[in-house]
Amino acid sequence: MKVSPSIIATEFLNLKHTLKELEKAGADFIHLDVMDGVFVNNITFGPDIAAEIMENTAIPGDTHLMIQNPEKYIDRFLEVRTEYVTFHIESEGNKDRIIDRIKEKGKKAGITLNPATPLSEIEPYLKKVDLVLIMTVHPGFYGQRFREDAFEKLKLIKKIRDSKGYDFLIEVDGGINDKTAPLVAPYVDIVVSGSFIFKGDNIRDRISFLKQL
Ligand code: DX5
Ligand code: ZN
Repeated sequence: MKVSPSIIATEFLNLKHTLKELEKAGADFIHLDVMDGVFVNNITFGPDIAAEIMENTAIPGDTHLMIQNPEKYIDRFLEVRTEYVTFHIESEGNKDRIIDRIKEKGKKAGITLNPATPLSEIEPYLKKVDLVLIMTVHPGFYGQRFREDAFEKLKLIKKIRDSKGYDFLIEVDGGINDKTAPLVAPYVDIVVSGSFIFKGDNIRDRISFLKQL
């Protein structure tokens, strides 16, 4: 599996050093959790800080927008050096326009949904997205417990992709650790991980563990 470390679980003032460590550890992406205090009950950072973070590493970016109005801010986030830009189906705005805009700017478009939202909501967009992110916690904070009820969704999204011949990648985000990662591995291409990677004592070992699954 590819690994996308969620840097909100790190010490921000040490980020430059942490980015170097992540490069050495073979992290595949940097997961940028953007929260606006409206869509979720937490606030992280916006496009300027995201851009500055990504200027300090060669690792590809994986932006996760947890914001109420992605259409309004999408152009600002498309200026950030990042490979994927993922937004929530529960947010406002015209989803086709957001996806088209991301692609027009040469980035890959991802769509995601909260644990309580059924897969049928994103079904109309599956033929045009590059990534589907399955949330296995309610978004807003790192360090939450993996929701077992998300399994059905993971199995189903893989089944839909395989049966319809879609080519999006499947990513999972929330509560991924040494117990839950092996369970999701058969269904996903990319795992996001925050506290498991950063709150242990060795970033490199934890990334290697996830990568070999
Ligand atoms: C939650 C964020 C996640 C989170 C992951 O709202 O989208 O990316 O930081 O952290 P862990 O792995 O600790 O659940
Ligand atoms: Zn995330």
